[in-house]
Amino acid sequence: MDPAAPAQQIPRPPCAAPDAGDPFAATGEPVRWGVVATGRIATNVTHDIAGLEDSVLQAVSSRSQESAEAFAEEFGFASSYYDGDGQTGYQRLFDDPDVDVVYIATPHAQHHAVAKAALESGKHVLCEKAFTVNAREAAELIDLARTTHLFLMEALWTRFLPSVNRAWEIIHSGELGEIQWVQADLGFPSDHSRTHRLWDPAAGGGALLDLTVYPLTWALGALGFPACVTATAVLNDDGIDTQNGLTLTYGGGAQAQLTSSLVSAGPGQATVSGSAGWLRTGSVLHNPRELTVQPHQGEQRVETFDQAGRGYVYELRETTRCIQQGLTQSPTMPWADTLNTMRLLDGVRDQLGLRYRNDAE
Ligand SMILES: NC(=O)c1ccc[n+]([C@@H]2O[C@H](COP(=O)([O-])OP(=O)(O)OC[C@H]3O[C@@H](n4cnc5c(N)ncnc54)[C@H](OP(=O)(O)O)[C@@H]3O)[C@@H](O)[C@H]2O)c1
Repeated sequence: MDPAAPAQQIPRPPCAAPDAGDPFAATGEPVRWGVVATGRIATNVTHDIAGLEDSVLQAVSSRSQESAEAFAEEFGFASSYYDGDGQTGYQRLFDDPDVDVVYIATPHAQHHAVAKAALESGKHVLCEKAFTVNAREAAELIDLARTTHLFLMEALWTRFLPSVNRAWEIIHSGELGEIQWVQADLGFPSDHSRTHRLWDPAAGGGALLDLTVYPLTWALGALGFPACVTATAVLNDDGIDTQNGLTLTYGGGAQAQLTSSLVSAGPGQATVSGSAGWLRTGSVLHNPRELTVQPHQGEQRVETFDQAGRGYVYELRETTRCIQQGLTQSPTMPWADTLNTMRLLDGVRDQLGLRYRNDAE
């Protein structure tokens, strides 16, 4: 694979079948989880791992002993690992023969190195978004998973939600006619300090890598990968984008306009518009509980959705099911989509002059 190649126009992301059953219910033999890092998302996702009938909370790792032990005690992990003897706690976890799959919840800039070490140690990997900082890193991980026959997936939980799958179903049913236009935004005024990962260039900070993957999910789900992307952004003195706007243009004339911001609050909604009507998500678009459908000529309707756990259980069920069935990639979040997303983001960053330390490595 050539990571320098432009994003290709490929078919729309496949739709997972809406989950009819209880996503916490077992689908096979128990899978033993190792969780890497003890931050905000690690905590939220671990709540849902703990609820899976066929999961075992085997090990957690942290850079600090205090965090590792506190996290292990809170959730009941069998083992906890932290840095010592010149070895990272993360590697200690990868060396644990009782761990089957590793969930990676470090900042983006560490994803490649941590996932690479996990795969090289024989572990399946579920890695947070943004999957990596650039397409070169993504391609390397995918090649590694392919040659080691291990499961690897970007933790883009939105794709697995019942509400999002229902939206794809409506969009592709033809009810809205030919889709011509998508508009999606995600923004919040981040009051974190400049040392927080969102603002730290060394951590892969900025709106693009952290937020844009969600508005982009709606463009990809409705229209697929575009023929062309034009981007604008505001870069701060540290060189990260505080907000950005992307226009995606498609061969058939359709367009998507996507906005992401770390400095302003937005409605956080996606609108998908076609020749026969439109669909709008409730707020927020990465976890919508409501879909409004307005046929061009006809009655508006609102569909509402329950959510199991904290919403991460659906991607966790998919990870578990794939591992149990010996799959190396998920048909709902295939490697090609992850790689093409990173290529698209690389192309955007080239336009913006947005560079990270990882690009030089
Ligand atoms: N799917 C979602 O809904 C969602 C939501 C939020 C974030 N995310 C993604 O998850 C990742 C982590 O985000 P987060 O909000 O959980 O971040 P966070 O609260 O800052 O936690 C990140 C953790 O990574 C570890 N870490 C390793 N190297 C680090 C470094 N150089 N600087 C800071 N922390 C480091 C730390 O854990 P230890 O000290 O224990 O090693 C830290 O607690 C990001 O890639 C983000 O995009 C996904």
